[in-house]
Parts: sequence; C-alpha cells; structure tokens
Amino acid sequence: ISTKCSTIRHATVSALSDANTTNDLPLREIPGSYGIPFFQPIKDRFEYFYSGGPDKFFRSRVEKHQSTVFRANMPPGPFISNDSKVIVLLDAKSFPVLFDVSIVEKKDVFTGTYMPSTDLTGGYRILSYLDPSEPRHAQLKNLMFFMLKNSNSRVIPSFEATYNELFEDLESELAKNGKASFGQVADLAAFRFLGRAYFDANPEETKIGKDGPTLIQSWVLFNLSPQLTAGLPWFLEEPLLHTFRLPAFLIKTSYQKLYDYFESVATPILEQGMSLGIPKDEAVHNILFAVCFNTFGGMKILFPETLKWIGLAGENVHNQLAEEIRGAIKSYGKGKVTMAAIEQMPLTKSVVYESLRINPPVPLQYGKAKRDLAIESHDAIFNVKEGEMLFGFQPFATKDPKVFDRPEEFVPDRFVGDGEALLKYVLWSNGPETESTTIGNKQCAGKDFVVMITRLFVIELFRRYDTFEVEISDSAVASVALKSVKRASV
Ligand code: HEM
Repeated sequence: ISTKCSTIRHATVSALSDANTTNDLPLREIPGSYGIPFFQPIKDRFEYFYSGGPDKFFRSRVEKHQSTVFRANMPPGPFISNDSKVIVLLDAKSFPVLFDVSIVEKKDVFTGTYMPSTDLTGGYRILSYLDPSEPRHAQLKNLMFFMLKNSNSRVIPSFEATYNELFEDLESELAKNGKASFGQVADLAAFRFLGRAYFDANPEETKIGKDGPTLIQSWVLFNLSPQLTAGLPWFLEEPLLHTFRLPAFLIKTSYQKLYDYFESVATPILEQGMSLGIPKDEAVHNILFAVCFNTFGGMKILFPETLKWIGLAGENVHNQLAEEIRGAIKSYGKGKVTMAAIEQMPLTKSVVYESLRINPPVPLQYGKAKRDLAIESHDAIFNVKEGEMLFGFQPFATKDPKVFDRPEEFVPDRFVGDGEALLKYVLWSNGPETESTTIGNKQCAGKDFVVMITRLFVIELFRRYDTFEVEISDSAVASVALKSVKRASV
C-alpha cells in the first residue's frame, strides 16, 4: 500500500508546517473499516460508551491499526444519525486540518454526525452550526464580538464580587460538613457572573431567580444526549439517550424562561444586532446559545478541572502562585487586579493553558472535506475524498508525545519562558492559541474572554488562600470538592 509521496497529486495539509514535515513519508491507505451498516455503528457505540469510554475506544484502535489516523464509526449512529462514518485524527500534526475552513466545511457539524432539532433553538440554525461561507456567520459573530467588548469594563469587578461570594459559600459549607462540593454553587456563581458581566444584571434579581443553571442543564441535555452518558445502566441509556431524539416540546417551557430572561436584559446587544441586520428574536436565540451553551457549558467543565489540577499540584505550587499573584497586584496594580498586573503573572497564565491543554473542555471536533486532499500524520500521508467526514478527538492531539514532554502530567510551568513556543499546540478554542478568532474562521468567539476569566479564577483563589486541598470523587467532571483551605496569611 505504501508508495512514495511523490505520486500524490493532492495538496498536503500539515499543521507542523515549520517542523517535521518531510517529503519522504509513505503514502498509506487509511486503515480501519466501517463494518456492516446499521449493526457495526451500534456495536461501536456500545464500545464507546460502556467499555472504558472514549479514551480506551481510540487508544485500542491506534494500537490495532498502528496509526493515529484511521476509519471508525462515531456515536450516535442509528436511529439518530444515518451516517456515522468518520476519519479519526489523533495526533498534533493531522488534527489542525479541522481548523482550515478553506478545505473543511463546518456547516451543521458542531455536534458531529447528527444535528439537534432547530426546534430547540427557536427554529434557527445558530452561529455554532454555520460555515463561514454563509453570510449570517459574519453578522452573528460580529454580534458576539460586540457583546464581549461591551462587557469589558465589568468583567474584573463582576468576577471579583461573584467569586468572593462563591468562596464564602464554600467556606461555610466546609465549616459545616468538613467538605464543600464545587459543582452546584459554582454553577450558580458562573451564571450570576455572566449576567453581571455581559448584561450588567444579576439574574437572581430578575424573574429567573436561581433557576438559570437547572434550566440550562435540561436544555443542553436535549441537545447533547446522543453523545452523553449519564452513568445509567446501558439498557436505560440506550433507548433514552442514544437511539431516539428527546422530543423538543418537552423542554419548551424551560427554554422560554431562558429566552424571556435574555430578552429582558440584553437590550444594547439586541439593538446592535438590529443595526447589523439581525432580527431581534434571532439575536436573542443566538445570545442565549452563546451564554448558556458556549460560555456556561464551557465554564462548567473548565473551572472544576482547573481547580482539580491546581489542587493536586500541591502546596509548593500554591505558594509560588500566591507569591506571583499578590506581588504583581501590589507592584503593577496598586493593590488591585488590573490588566497590567495580570500581564506580570507568567505562572498563572501557564497553569491556565496547561489546564486547557490537558483537558480541552470541548474534546470533539468535526469538519467535512470540501475536496480531495492529503493529510499527514507523523508517520504517513493519507488521501481523503471530497465529502468524507473528518473527526478529531482533541485530548490526543494536545497530549501528543511527539510534541509534549510528559504529556499526561499537569506541568504547571510548561508554558513559561521558552515554553511559550508550545502555545501553538494548545487547541481548546478550535484553533492554535497563537492565532486569533475572526469572522472568517470557526475559532471560539470567546477565546480571549475564556483565558481571562480562568486567570481571574486562579487569581481570586490565591488572593484568598495560601493553599487548599481537594477531593476528587472520580474522573467525572464537577466531582471536585474542597477538603480544607488555609486563608491568606498576608
Ligand atoms: C465555538 C470552546 C466559551 C462563543 C467554539 C468551539 C469550541 C469552543 C471548541 C468550536 C466548535 C467547533 O466548531 O467545532 C469553548 C470553551 C469555552 C467557550 C471551552 C469556555 C470554557 C465561549 C464564550 C463565548 C463563546 C465565552 C462567548 C460569546 C463561541 C461561538 C462559537 C464558539 C459564537 C462559534 C464560532 C464560529 O462559528 O465562528 N467554542 N468556548 N464561546 N464559541 Fe466558544
């Protein structure tokens, strides 16, 4: 099967364009097969969910095929998706082909091989599902940029106020019960912070009260159930979550409550939307999606994971972070958290990038080949046909041992000093960390905002505590609890 790549006529796409690109990689047929239609996708779905999870699913196939690029079926399969065939990309070299919108189409692939009903989003195809070639993409992305810019002056003070409330709640829980679970109170804090920052409105002082996080969770479940596992036995999960779509009408009332909240608080953004040519209701549905799905959904994974990794890093790292953060605030912020002070916190920045690298909150990315092309892994070149679905499981790309030393370890100072050169392999935002989100690409609109608020999270932690201990129940997200805290001694 291997022939020399001089025989390849297609364009070759390589992420590591400045290194490791050789002209003598063998051309290899993409290994793996899709098996018997209908049956094999279901068998693969079982293996994906119930035989050790995605990590084992992909690792066993890398070993079997001796390749980080291969063919496989991705859930959900029947009856939700009628085509589960994908080409899997599992290394830092092949993965970034998914970011190049000149060669991959990103239309309706946000959730992979199926798309949730637009009845869940007011009848609209929301921005995350639009390809940059669609005119609405630029209009809506500009609206998101406006929403983020509009919140600039409120981000730091709202964060400080909200997360101090959170830590106070956690401390009283800790005093009462000897431990304080981060999950639920953190969800409330996240939604409160977003209301204050984006709209200058605390949702808990509006009609929605404290219901925001619960309403969001149910609605997200209706969108993502085909690719989630709730930890139930398979004979319940399969018919309930993975075989049929949950009917959208069941969530209509909850969604309407969220809609009413956003309609009532987002006036300046809705006005901007109308000046950009976006009808008011379409703008509300898009703002709701960006805040609830993109931002809240991302924070719900990223913040507990960051707390977990930093907690496990131990007292020595905590002391270094506390010293750096307090020193920079004193010297560069005159006692306040300012942009100038944040810029002087290299270790704080590094731990945030390391958290995003080791556990990218949105691990699955998809794109359809717009034309015939060739993709390079570290070991071979593969031809892909127009229309084939490409899929990357990001944790394998950002833990690629050919790029990162000790890839499975949380190395707090990995990105300090010369380590900054590795930032181009940090891909959580659907693009290299060294590149910028634009209306022409599909990189996360909130890229800089996310990095900023995660730094603020680390900053508020170590302004308040010298050190703390965490308890991790299992590897599932949001299962982190504070076991002890030592309040700042200075
Ligand atoms: C797109 C991750 C926060 C708005 C994306 C994508 C990822 C991502 C991976 C690309 C998905 C794909 O097409 O395959 C995250 C994570 C976040 C976060 C992990 C938080 C921890 C935010 C925030 C906003 C936002 C704060 C604020 C507006 C968007 C939008 C898109 C997007 C609008 C679609 C971009 C486009 O169509 O060009 N995000 N995001 N996200 N994100 Fe984020």
